[in-house]
Amino acid sequence: MLAEQRILLIIGGGIAAYKCLDLIRRLKERGATVRTILTTAAQQFVTPLSVGALSGERVFGDLFDLTAEHDIGHIRLSREADLVVVAPATADLLAKMACGLADDLASTALLATDKPVLVVPAMNPRMWAHPATRRNLATLAADGIAVVGPNAGAMAERGEFGEGRMAEPLEIVDAIAARLSAARLAVVRGAGSLAGRRLLVTSGPTHEPIDPVRYIANRSSGKQGHAVAAAAAAAGAEVVLVSGPAEAPDPAGVQVIHVDSARQMLAAVEAHLPVDAAVFAAAVADWRVADASEQKIKKAGAGAPTLTLVENPDILATVSHHSTLRPRLVVGFAAETETVIAHAQAKRARKGCDWIVANDVSPATGIMGGDSNTVHIVSAAGVEHWPPASKTEVAARLVARIADALAQQEKDRS
Ligand code: CTP
Repeated sequence: MLAEQRILLIIGGGIAAYKCLDLIRRLKERGATVRTILTTAAQQFVTPLSVGALSGERVFGDLFDLTAEHDIGHIRLSREADLVVVAPATADLLAKMACGLADDLASTALLATDKPVLVVPAMNPRMWAHPATRRNLATLAADGIAVVGPNAGAMAERGEFGEGRMAEPLEIVDAIAARLSAARLAVVRGAGSLAGRRLLVTSGPTHEPIDPVRYIANRSSGKQGHAVAAAAAAAGAEVVLVSGPAEAPDPAGVQVIHVDSARQMLAAVEAHLPVDAAVFAAAVADWRVADASEQKIKKAGAGAPTLTLVENPDILATVSHHSTLRPRLVVGFAAETETVIAHAQAKRARKGCDWIVANDVSPATGIMGGDSNTVHIVSAAGVEHWPPASKTEVAARLVARIADALAQQEKDRS
């Protein structure tokens, strides 16, 4: 459930901070990656050294730490997570979140994140019951922030008893798993996020004939492109999938146009424009045989034939540069075997698309034909490194990102 999930744990300044050490251990045991931010007050209760030793990751603490900003930056830190957890969420942190204050790394990351947030309050029962805290919690609930705990029991202060004890690590683990699966479901169902949109996806290899029985091909299975088409359909889009001869089965709920060659793929793509967004995941053959033989080339006689290759049309570049029918969002892929990011950036500029999903397809990665993928999203905003994930998961994230981008474009225009 938590394998490959990335948690950003913001540790607040309260006596219950010690429970976060056990929480980190439990999350790691379940395969999650845990990055941490310690507020200044938290560092009075747990040390960056112990947190770092357990998480196996660098611990972040100061907004004005120039090395940390240079390496990762607070915006990326808050967005390269599947879930942000605040524990212990002190009365002070909850108040800051409710007001949108951003005066240290923890509060800035919370204001900058676009990911679901779970808070784990812990405080004195009177502070918990105070009308100000109640108001702040109501605001946070209205903002969609989830809460686990607090529990009732004896407090650290002598003689104090009541509601305010931080939830136990295993309860928090359960709440994290529940929040993540709710977020995943929302992506899969799309919550109507692409309803009313038209998407076009290319997928699979192309086959370029040499003669009626032989062809030039590549190792693409079509799994990633087909998964994108399926995820977009699940999110409510009307999807046209133009597929070369792929190994992956036709996804349900998608209009599939089967083609063989690059030129057929281009013709099918152009015939299905306009669309709101297009994703070019196909591994299109760069070259075709100039004069493919009408008849099977025979071995007998003049020795081995010489094949003259000519370049195929670039479908992605053609659509990206279309004067009237360019989709609002054009996403290309880059299959590379070396200097992945630099090549992808050059490809994005050359082909004129908005985003490039870059991956390393060297045989050792097992990506081509395999079920998982490690991708880097190259856009005008920079490069975002996504963790290794199944092709289905990569597709769900990409589709969610496309839905957000289309919605944002409309907001910007209005
Ligand atoms: N692409 C395309 N038409 C082509 C070649 C590629 O639409 N004739 C698209 C692919 O679908 C992908 C992107 O362009 O979205 C990059 O494909 P890739 O194979 O990585 O790059 P190439 O253009 O083939 O460049 P190179 O061979 O130099 O890496």
